[in-house]
This record gives sequence, structure tokens and C-alpha cells, in this order.
Amino acid sequence: MSMRDARLLCLAWLLAGVPAAQAQTYGLGRPATEAAIATWDIDVDAQGHGLPPGRGSVRQGAALFAARCAACHGPQGEGKPADRLVGGQGSLSSATPVKTIGSFWPYATTLFDFIRRAMPYNAPQSLQPDEVYALSAWLLWRNGIVPEDTVLDADSLPAVRMPNRDGFVGDPRPDVPPARGAEKGGDVGR
Ligand code: HEC
Repeated sequence: MSMRDARLLCLAWLLAGVPAAQAQTYGLGRPATEAAIATWDIDVDAQGHGLPPGRGSVRQGAALFAARCAACHGPQGEGKPADRLVGGQGSLSSATPVKTIGSFWPYATTLFDFIRRAMPYNAPQSLQPDEVYALSAWLLWRNGIVPEDTVLDADSLPAVRMPNRDGFVGDPRPDVPPARGAEKGGDVGR
């Protein structure tokens, strides 16, 4: 057998072995159920796809923030010990930019996604959708972005326009695909 034939035989043997290896099981784990997958499938994109039913007001958010968030973010969201969540608008192009959810983040929907996914830091994913809508409403109000009588839900939250909405540009390199959720005009969808 020539060297080339030997190599081809080897390759054929390897390829034939792949399905057999995949079919092997080790008696560990179990197939993921629809219900189990649903608990992980919580992402909300820039346009608000994935927002759950529910609603929450600025007033409800104030009480929740005091109880669940103020210890780390300050009573008014001013920060310390953890991130400052309020203020900084107009500072981004200065020598001392203050990046907060209000001054920097381009989409209000990201606020919902982040709070639901990661906060409170010591008990992530313990909040109900109504509570996350209310906390988002309070934080947006504290940042001067929505009025005090605001009630947020899956329709009204994506309609909130953030001050730094146009502060991001798409990556113009031809080999970089557009960001997921990107809109027309080369805008990033994050
Ligand atoms: C135990 C302390 C703690 C508590 C309580 C807490 N957070 Fe946080 N929070 C943090 C830390 C730490 C970060 C930074 C996390 C990171 O960057 O990964 C953060 C980040 C954030 C951010 C992102 C800020 C940014 O500019 O990137 C938001 C929004 C936020 N928290 C909201 C909340 C809300 C709403 C609550 C109450 C439900 C809450 N947090 C409760 C510690 C806390």
C-alpha cells in the first residue's frame, strides 16, 4: 500500500468512526426539557424582542430600589460601593466622562435584560418581571429620561429613547459582520 492509500484508508476509518462515537452514551446527564431551556432563554435584544409580559411604575420601583439595591448603589443610585447608576449626561466627550446606564447605554431594553439577569448581585434572577419593569422605570426617571408617572411594559420600554442612542458607530471593516439586531445605517444593535 502506498503512503497516500494508507492515509486515505486512515481518513475513511476515522470518518466512519465519528457517528459511532457520537451515538455512545456514558449514562450521565439527561436531555434538556423545554421547561429547563425556557429558564435559560431570557435574553432581551435591543429592539425589545424577548421582553416578558408584566408592568411596573416609577413609584413601585422606588420602594424596590430602597429594599433591594440601595445598599450597593446608594439610596438615589449615586453609587458606592457598587456602580453609579444615575447622572453623567453631557460628560462623555469631556476629559472626565461619567459612564452610567443613563449617560452611556444606548438602549433602555438592555437595562431590563441586565437587571433581570444579574441583579441584585447577591441574588440574581430572584426578581419577577413586574419588579424589573418597575426598577427600570425608577432608574430611567432618576436619570431624567422618562416622566415620574411612567409605567413600563413590553410595548413602552423599547420606545424609550436613551440620550446616547446615537453615540455608537458600527465597525466599518468589510470582514466584520453587522452586530446582531443592527438597524439600517450601520448602527450597532447592542
Ligand atoms: C450586593 C451588591 C449589589 C446589589 C444589592 C445590587 N447591585 Fe447592581 N451591581 C453591583 C455590582 C458589583 C455591579 C457591577 C457588576 C459588573 O460589572 O459585573 C452592579 C452593576 C449594576 C448595573 C450595571 C451598571 C453599569 O453601568 O454597568 C445595574 C443597572 C445594576 N447593578 C442595577 C441594580 C439593581 C436594579 C439592583 C436591585 C435590584 C442592584 N443592582 C442590586 C452590586 C450590587
